[in-house]
Amino acid sequence: MPNTTNKAEPAGRPVMIAARDIVKSFGANRVLDRVSLTLGKGEVVAVIGPSGSGKSTFLRCLNHLETIDEGGIEIEGETLAAPGPDGRSHYANDAEVRRICRKMGMVFQSFNLFPHMTVLQNVIEAPITVKRMRRDAIVPQAEELLRKVGLFSKRDNYPGRLSGGQKQRVAIARALAMEPDIMLFDEPTSALDPELTGEVLRTMRQLAEEHMTMLVVTHEMGFAREAAHRVVFMDQGRIVEEAAAAEFFRAPRAPRTREFLAHML
Ligand SMILES: Nc1ncnc2c1ncn2[C@@H]1O[C@H](COP(=O)(O)OP(=O)(O)O)[C@@H](O)[C@H]1O
Ligand SMILES: [Mg+2]
Repeated sequence: MPNTTNKAEPAGRPVMIAARDIVKSFGANRVLDRVSLTLGKGEVVAVIGPSGSGKSTFLRCLNHLETIDEGGIEIEGETLAAPGPDGRSHYANDAEVRRICRKMGMVFQSFNLFPHMTVLQNVIEAPITVKRMRRDAIVPQAEELLRKVGLFSKRDNYPGRLSGGQKQRVAIARALAMEPDIMLFDEPTSALDPELTGEVLRTMRQLAEEHMTMLVVTHEMGFAREAAHRVVFMDQGRIVEEAAAAEFFRAPRAPRTREFLAHML
């Protein structure tokens, strides 16, 4: 039977991330309260919302930096976690979890580069230690990625010598060196001086144009509007509103969304 009515496949794209009814608490604090989101191949989805609404926790749950209590996560059709008969989430075994999570690259607000390694060493580290790639195989790829983010000439510099925008572009190149199918960004420009956000957003737009599947937590409403296909608004651990980007900004429905946008725009 043709699959055209399957709601799990937005716009007929293969599903890359399917998060269903995720619940996550820290102690008595329920930080994610039945969060569901589906991301299709090549889709760019922006996640916006006030501080403390659970955006980072949601991203961190998707690639197992945090574990979920209830609900399920599938990555490219493979089960990372699924609810058991007791209603609690059960994870795949460690090797499976590692393998599945390697499909996702993540970029953090704080760059997280290794300070004692050069730019090139930062980019080739994980492919060598995690993927067991040979140095002579990964170096040309790493150099190509550095060219792509405009930092080939900084290859032998240490991160301490780079601007914040340059560091973040290295962090993007480093994530891409693992050849992920999905990129998760957690406020990648929030730690940057305003004049440095543009160069990072340009790199991200370029990735989007190359049809990378991207989930981007951001306060950059311009980026959300122009580069994202869909926008998700989170508040108090819930997805309050979700719409195509143009629609979302033109006619936000929920009062909380309107209030938030009024402050942001
Ligand atoms: N490791 C943690 N331990 C305890 N509470 C946490 C932890 N991480 C996040 N929280 C809490 O979860 C809530 C959501 O945080 P977060 O996901 O960082 O929100 P956002 O990224 O939207 O600002 C906040 O109340 C925060 O204090
Ligand atoms: Mg956050």
